[in-house]
Amino acid sequence: MISYVDVCCGLAWGDEAKGKIVAYLAKSGRYDYVCRWAGGNNAGHTVHVNNIQYVTHLVPSGIFYDIPSIIGPGCVINEESFKKEIEYLQNSGFNTGLVKISPKAHVVSDKHIEEDKNKYYKTQGTTAKGIAPCYRDKFGRIGTRAENITSLKPYMWDEKLSGAVLCEGAQGFWLDIDYGNYPYVTSSTTLPYGACSLGFSPRLIRTIYGAAKMYDTRSGTDPDFPETLLSNPDLLCIADIGQEYGATTGRRRKTNWLNIDKLIQAINTSGTTQLIMSKGDVLEEANLYRLIFDSVLVECKNINEMKETINEVLRNSCPLLLNIVYSTSPETVTGLDSEKS
Ligand code: IMP
Ligand code: MG
Repeated sequence: MISYVDVCCGLAWGDEAKGKIVAYLAKSGRYDYVCRWAGGNNAGHTVHVNNIQYVTHLVPSGIFYDIPSIIGPGCVINEESFKKEIEYLQNSGFNTGLVKISPKAHVVSDKHIEEDKNKYYKTQGTTAKGIAPCYRDKFGRIGTRAENITSLKPYMWDEKLSGAVLCEGAQGFWLDIDYGNYPYVTSSTTLPYGACSLGFSPRLIRTIYGAAKMYDTRSGTDPDFPETLLSNPDLLCIADIGQEYGATTGRRRKTNWLNIDKLIQAINTSGTTQLIMSKGDVLEEANLYRLIFDSVLVECKNINEMKETINEVLRNSCPLLLNIVYSTSPETVTGLDSEKS
């Protein structure tokens, strides 16, 4: 029996430090399973364990703390990249026997990748991992499931969950197939309700951890993030200090001031109860404190004034939100109210 499910989702355009939050929660030892519900190796999760940095693309972060790690039915698998990741984790000393794949997950073929490279990558700036063509074939009911691929047989999941479950989001609210700036989106459901595709009722969801940053970044094409952002010296300074380069693609991410109007919508639609705002230290190093509120650029004097502004705006606009935490460490999160629901 499942006792409860906690979900961690991105509230922006991906790259909001979900990996850090999930690894931190997994470390608590409270969870029996850590599961991914969407996406494939388009994601890049950077995690620090014992001062060593690891980058994963598909395997859930439970693996770093010896917890069964499930790749769910809503995910898509690139066999070659999955096996490379398993080898990398094995060589790093982790027990990869704990990694399981839903037999219902779909497989990304070489043809999907070719098509993505030749078509979607050029027009939409995708990660070129074959994601859109693979999901198109899934929903067109002509795809191939993981259960049909011999080499993935040892990894098949028995489709059972029990105890405490942690679900790890990929990408973010504004890349969601329904809520993002279509067609500049990914092809899956990034909102927490998508986690129910793992096979549990929405009534079991307890805490929703929402991840965001103190400034916005966008990797890939999006008219909401015009190229002109790349010639704003203040924003470039933030991008450099924050090392805003894609973990999957190596591309420079377009950076903008935190759009709190969009953050409010993401918090309220996702049902976020615990908000984790990362990378305030980057703004401090740049000594730049601005945000967009009611479509107007607001200048704050210092980091404290910026935090106070964020706290006040969100408390007035987000009725489900119980706690806001500011995190400046790449390895840990302090002040999470993990018992509150
Ligand atoms: P796709 O998921 O590769 O089809 O890419 C669609 C859009 O989502 C592109 O703009 C990508 O740059 C973006 N994207 C996909 N995955 C991630 C991610 O994990 N972090 C940030 N952006 C992503
Ligand atoms: Mg990422």
